[in-house]
Amino acid sequence: MSKKIIEIKNVYKKFIHQNNSIEVFKNLSFSLKRGELVALTGPSGSGKSTLLHMLALLERPSKGNIFFFGKDSEKLKENEKDNLRRSSISIIFQDNNLLNDFNVLENVLMPMVIKNGNLKESKSKAYQILKELKIKDRSNHYPNQLSGGEQQRVAIARSLITESDLILADEPTGNLDYKTSVEIFSLFTKFKKLNKAIIFATHNRDLAKKSDYILRISQGNIKRYNG
Ligand SMILES: Nc1ncnc2c1ncn2[C@@H]1O[C@H](COP(=O)(O)OP(=O)(O)O)[C@@H](O)[C@H]1O
Ligand SMILES: [Mg+2]
Repeated sequence: MSKKIIEIKNVYKKFIHQNNSIEVFKNLSFSLKRGELVALTGPSGSGKSTLLHMLALLERPSKGNIFFFGKDSEKLKENEKDNLRRSSISIIFQDNNLLNDFNVLENVLMPMVIKNGNLKESKSKAYQILKELKIKDRSNHYPNQLSGGEQQRVAIARSLITESDLILADEPTGNLDYKTSVEIFSLFTKFKKLNKAIIFATHNRDLAKKSDYILRISQGNIKRYNG
């Protein structure tokens, strides 16, 4: 299996907003490989979320290409992109997006329900993941009965159930205290060992330093630094 999961080549991105055009990226090129844990940094408004959305194939570059497992995403039909996203990409947002009308177990199972997966198997897998994330005893709780850190762990459990190759996290520890952030980060190091690629946007310098390397966005370009 190829080590390169996703490759960005000469990506230029601008947004047109009320006659104004905002140039977010000038010319980005980089790839993410299996087993890499990467921190994405840059000031607020520099384009971290935009880049993660492009990596999730939710946003298209204005110019340039994004290759997923060597396939040019521009050549994929919308339903092919949907399938790829479902099977290979997990996204964790800062405000974890848990469904408030469903309990912890149901939230974690949701991607499998969407995928039409085997629910019985998925259930035992969900319990296993919740156990690993030390939150199994909250399986019957609803999101509003959990702390911020617990909610984030549930969001991470949900992102794990599909066994994605690429995990994208947008400031996943932004709302969390230091200790919980470190715990979340240590989960990321586990995914790394499972040969997934993880890229997470962060303002936390300590966590960025512990990553394999840092991709820092500055003035529409990206530079790589050692973690
Ligand atoms: N859908 C959009 N339409 C217009 N401008 C956008 C859109 N999304 C983001 N932007 C602009 O692109 C820039 C980068 O935003 P964003 O990716 O959210 O930055 P960050 O996540 O680093 O804070 C900002 O100037 C933002 O206002
Ligand atoms: Mg953002």
